[in-house]
Amino acid sequence: MIDLTGKVALVTGGTGGIGSAICKRLAEAGARIVTTYRNRDKAVAWAAEQEFEPLLIACDVGSYEDCVRMREELEAKGLPVDIVVNNAGITRDATFKKITPEHWRQVISSDLDSVFNVSHQFVTQMTERGWGRVINIASVNGQKGCFGQTNYCAAKAGMHGFTMALALEVARKGVTVNTVSPGYIATDMVMAVREEVREQIIAQIPVGRLGRPDEIAGLVTFLSSDDAGFITGANLAANGGQHMH
Ligand code: CAA
Repeated sequence: MIDLTGKVALVTGGTGGIGSAICKRLAEAGARIVTTYRNRDKAVAWAAEQEFEPLLIACDVGSYEDCVRMREELEAKGLPVDIVVNNAGITRDATFKKITPEHWRQVISSDLDSVFNVSHQFVTQMTERGWGRVINIASVNGQKGCFGQTNYCAAKAGMHGFTMALALEVARKGVTVNTVSPGYIATDMVMAVREEVREQIIAQIPVGRLGRPDEIAGLVTFLSSDDAGFITGANLAANGGQHMH
């Protein structure tokens, strides 16, 4: 039984498919949940449906200034962050010929800059307290590439480079840094892929189905626990066997 009582977990993009499942699991293990949002109405409606009481903070994680403001808001509330789950992310899929500089920048900003912007607020305090967890939610596509996702694959592969470098810097201070690379999970992001393309993708998954958000959340909760203290700098794949290496 994982016990995270007394820990504060910040999950970026916690109102989305995978993020929501992560918040729920961490809350069940006893953590106090903080999540960022960009759309207030959606976040308030989401919070009302939960069996725990998340703290909602408006924050564009692609903006360093917004992340500073978030840290100040949490400090003012006396909430030190012990666990950061960098989960917020977007796709802007297009073949390289059609991709625009704006689509490139949006994805790099939301999916990769955000990992620096958010982690930079909280990791030094974790090292000072001698305990912390940073968990970066990347993607199978950052490991194997994906047709139509040069922006997303660059961001997701970059996340793991960040994981390995930061893991080295904080390893002696009780802080672990890991990447979780989900495969195709049944969320709005994956359901937005054209149906015939999606069917072709599912046909390539040995388990024979899309993953469930819970299957990612369980792994994140384990990585947050004391039992995972010797796992750092790792990239844990949860992709139904679609990519093995
Ligand atoms: N490999 C090789 N060629 C391919 C291909 C592939 N995987 N997919 C398409 N092509 C070819 C097509 O056959 C077509 O060839 P012709 O021009 O000779 O007919 C050409 O490339 C153009 O293909 P599309 O008609 O599909 O191009 P499009 O511009 O309409 O769409 C796309 C491009 C939006 C990228 C579309 O291919 C697509 O949606 N692909 C899936 C991308 C994907 O898997 N995204 C994951 C989103 S979910 C996620 O990211 C979560 C996560 O972490 C896993």
